[in-house]
Amino acid sequence: MKAELERLRGEAEAALARAVSDHEIADIKARFLGKAGSIQATLKGLGKLPAVERPEAGRIANEVRQAVEAAVEGALTRVATEGRAREIATRIEDVTLVGRRPPVGALHPLTQTWYEIRAVFASLGFAVVDGPLVETDWYNFEALGVPADHPARDMQDTFFVEGGALLRTHTSPTQVRVMEREKPPIRIIAPGHVFRRDDDVTHSPEFQQVEGLWVDEHITFGDLKGVLAEFARRMFGAATKIRLRPSYFPFTEPSAEVDVSCLICGGRRTGCRVCKETGWLEILGAGSVDPLVFENVKYDPERVTGFAFGMGIERIAMLTFGISDIRLFYQNDVRFLRQFA
Ligand code: DAH
Repeated sequence: MKAELERLRGEAEAALARAVSDHEIADIKARFLGKAGSIQATLKGLGKLPAVERPEAGRIANEVRQAVEAAVEGALTRVATEGRAREIATRIEDVTLVGRRPPVGALHPLTQTWYEIRAVFASLGFAVVDGPLVETDWYNFEALGVPADHPARDMQDTFFVEGGALLRTHTSPTQVRVMEREKPPIRIIAPGHVFRRDDDVTHSPEFQQVEGLWVDEHITFGDLKGVLAEFARRMFGAATKIRLRPSYFPFTEPSAEVDVSCLICGGRRTGCRVCKETGWLEILGAGSVDPLVFENVKYDPERVTGFAFGMGIERIAMLTFGISDIRLFYQNDVRFLRQFA
């Protein structure tokens, strides 16, 4: 029996050394080690041996089984390694090909515009503050000199929320909130979304504004003009001029609409199509803070003065990038957005 077991071991090891696949190894394993395998079959004869020879034969049978099992593992590892090596050697791969670039996003043109506006005012000492999008009638209208029956309410028709609150129609309420909680001097800009019942190629029911406010003793209309002229030069180019036209806002007195010289024709006297033959483009509203607003926030209008302004971020972006339809900003069409990367 001992000789027979040794013979089986040799046979199994030889077969495993030649095997080239997992499948073949599994077959060999079943053939020698399986329940109906030849080692098991040989052990059936154990009972017929004289009792003194059985322990020795049992020990050899175990040794042979372990040796074959180890040979199976070895063959599996060898086949796997050879397989990988063959795969690597035969793979058709051109490592000199240029790689595929992962798509990289960019800042939205409105974000880029806001960052530029912010950088200019930050360098002039303005801090950034936020205000709520859902406002009360007091902050959005009343405190800014627009009582319930005031005709100026028609200019800013809005969306009302249950309970009398509303979506703010401009960023001006942030002026009131800041002055209520802080004492002068105040020098802030307040960006954010605003809402109106407007919808066409240059007006969106939701858009963004930047409000500005500088309040201190001795702040004059001349300071307003200086700050806005500097803003225009830094934002639109050193040759840009500004023009102030008398206007009306309930929360400033006097008030002005501010124009910049046309970015396309440079403010030619005869103008161009973009500036509608005027040479000027309107960019914002501004003025000296009305004493009534100061009284509403418990400031003494005899001691402090200030100026305020408000501009639409979309409007500035449309002018600087030459975009004619405001809705393009909100459609998230990558063909549009890619142009600003
Ligand atoms: N709130 C005005 C609007 O939405 C813009 C504006 C004009 C803001 C004059 C101001 C200002 O602070 O002084 O049309």
